[in-house]
Amino acid sequence: MPATSDFVVLHGCSSSLLLHAPVGGWPSVLYFGERLGGGVSAAEVFRLRRRQGAKGGPSEEVVATLSCEPGTGYLGPSGLNVHREGRSWAPTLRVISVEQEEGCAEIRCRDDAHGVHAVYRFTLDARNDVLAIDTELGNDGDDRLAIDWAAVACIPLAPELDELMHFSGRWSGEFQTDRHRLRQGGFLVENRRGRTSHDRFPGLVLCTARTDERAGACLGVHLAWSGNSRLRVDTLADGRRILQCGELLLPGELRLAANERYRTPRLYLRHSASGLSEMSAGFHDYFHRKLKGARTGGRPRPVHYNTWEAVYFDHSLPVLTELVDAAADIGVERFVLDDGWFKGRRDERSGLGDWVVDRGVFPEGLHPLIERVHSRGMEFGLWVEPEMISEDSDLFRAHPDWVLAAPPAAQTPFRHQLVLDMARPEVADNVFGQIDALLDEYEIGYLKWDMNRDLNHPGARAGTASVHAQTHAVYSLIDRLREKHPQIEIESCASGGARTDLGILARTDRLWVSDNNDAIDRQRIQRGASFFFPLSVIGAHVGARRCHVTNRVLPMALRAPTAMFGHLGVEADLLGMDDADRAELGAAIALYKEHRELIHGGELVRLDGLAWQNAIGVVSRDRRSALFSYCQLESHDEVLPGVLRFAGLDATLRYRLRLIWPASDCTPTPQALENSGLTGDGYEVSGEALVKAGLQLPLLYPQTCLVFALDSV
Ligand code: GLA
Repeated sequence: MPATSDFVVLHGCSSSLLLHAPVGGWPSVLYFGERLGGGVSAAEVFRLRRRQGAKGGPSEEVVATLSCEPGTGYLGPSGLNVHREGRSWAPTLRVISVEQEEGCAEIRCRDDAHGVHAVYRFTLDARNDVLAIDTELGNDGDDRLAIDWAAVACIPLAPELDELMHFSGRWSGEFQTDRHRLRQGGFLVENRRGRTSHDRFPGLVLCTARTDERAGACLGVHLAWSGNSRLRVDTLADGRRILQCGELLLPGELRLAANERYRTPRLYLRHSASGLSEMSAGFHDYFHRKLKGARTGGRPRPVHYNTWEAVYFDHSLPVLTELVDAAADIGVERFVLDDGWFKGRRDERSGLGDWVVDRGVFPEGLHPLIERVHSRGMEFGLWVEPEMISEDSDLFRAHPDWVLAAPPAAQTPFRHQLVLDMARPEVADNVFGQIDALLDEYEIGYLKWDMNRDLNHPGARAGTASVHAQTHAVYSLIDRLREKHPQIEIESCASGGARTDLGILARTDRLWVSDNNDAIDRQRIQRGASFFFPLSVIGAHVGARRCHVTNRVLPMALRAPTAMFGHLGVEADLLGMDDADRAELGAAIALYKEHRELIHGGELVRLDGLAWQNAIGVVSRDRRSALFSYCQLESHDEVLPGVLRFAGLDATLRYRLRLIWPASDCTPTPQALENSGLTGDGYEVSGEALVKAGLQLPLLYPQTCLVFALDSV
């Protein structure tokens, strides 16, 4: 329906979006924040927020439009850099039409002189207040239009949002959160790795100095894209602060022919006036709904066993069969055969590209193994890395020119592998054919889709840069396989968490957020990932007693509950595990199964705490049951660890509070736990007391995790 005024108004449950989009004029975001009531008109907000010109500047301040394009005279960083061989660099996109429907608005803009048009689509999901923005740019001219930068949209930020959280990291140390005050100038996150990356996650949180998990304004930002990205927040000298996010384009990477269009990745925003946990809950609800497809819908997420850290490349049918049995014995439901099963893959130097079973290791193919997995009541999953190729492979010997490269620059060595140019149809067809044949031959319910190197030289055959095309080609390949094999679930992995974003999650079902199974590190990594992703998709494995990545020895009493608050799996070598650990792990898996509907379907609350603590909880939608995990990561200075104030509970209800983990001793003063009355059946207490007064925590050994169950009485 065409809009009847100069304004677009979209309301969610807790937020409102106001856009100013007068036909013939410039479009801009007027307001995105706490929900405005029916008595507030967009016109009055426009009037209230009108800025004046200042001495020493233009007589009327230049509006920050949806693209902050140079033709408007805007002198902050532009949100749209285009040109035709250096000309046509200063377009101005004026509104030509506005369509609005329930929860959704589409603003079409055009610059006839420069032959450019833009279509901005805003969709505010009223169930969870997630705002999705998609933008399309089109070349209406006759000659090629180069796009150097196209922010999805330029969003002026509310003045109180002057702090920023971002998520950096490294291999085995993903989702490290950092928070600081924004100052004059720009804050920039640029990822050029050709995959989402470990270190430059395409997400931010803007907030105030007072915002914490329970209170205060915040704005979550996530670009749903698995290639290169740029997120920037510019604080201008005039006091305005503008957010821009989009795909980072390499030189010459995107040149639109006449009538060709470019669609930006989707940008997600979620505003909350009530703290960080509520913001995350909005994202979780949105992503849950998107993921509730035919594949996982309604089905409990199966407990995994993954073979990687148990056997690495050393595959043998007898050992794997023993592992299958050991996994089934402790309650595992899906057995995933990791790297090492395919032709010539005895170490990381060879084999990628040849997706056929190694007959030297598995003379009868994978049939005997899969039969064993099925006979023990489990589903079978298989590791693949479809975009990659080893120089020592039949595929490379046949097609050495199928790789991305930027000659004469030498390839950067990286795990002995190169990247296939997936945008070439013959390459994509070949890989599709091989994976498709595997899925046809074997009953495989699950693929772990890995991607283990950066794209240091992402050049296509034509000599052009190709991260944009590569990313779309990978998406298409997954979509094509999905279409043919709709029952398959897929996990997104890239050397751990280097491809964790909603672009990939829209077509996959689980995120392997880190190769690091050290439970202490995992507490932080999973907490960071939970700002955007629900626990149901965060893969979390119980690793070896002595962690393979950090060499730290951690007890099962900590490793198991850490993995329980995610999509639980086991990666430790079950054959080398002692009986006590195995029994404790079996008990944890049983406990997880008992509570996983709540863990995966409830609302996540993160509790504020000190650096040596991590406490989170999940509360059922009706607030009648909850599970809380309190983890003491290190030693502390004071005599006792302080008070745990629960959150998300219904203050009007009474709950039975029980300590359900650990089963074994975790405190230097065991009588303190017994005397607390929390073990066994626990005791009844009001929700209000739990939230307002909180529970005094007992003295605990460091590296201890307590899990509390609450059920309304
Ligand atoms: C990557 C993954 C690991 C494992 C190995 C196999 O590093 O993140 O989980 O699958 O590859 O080579």
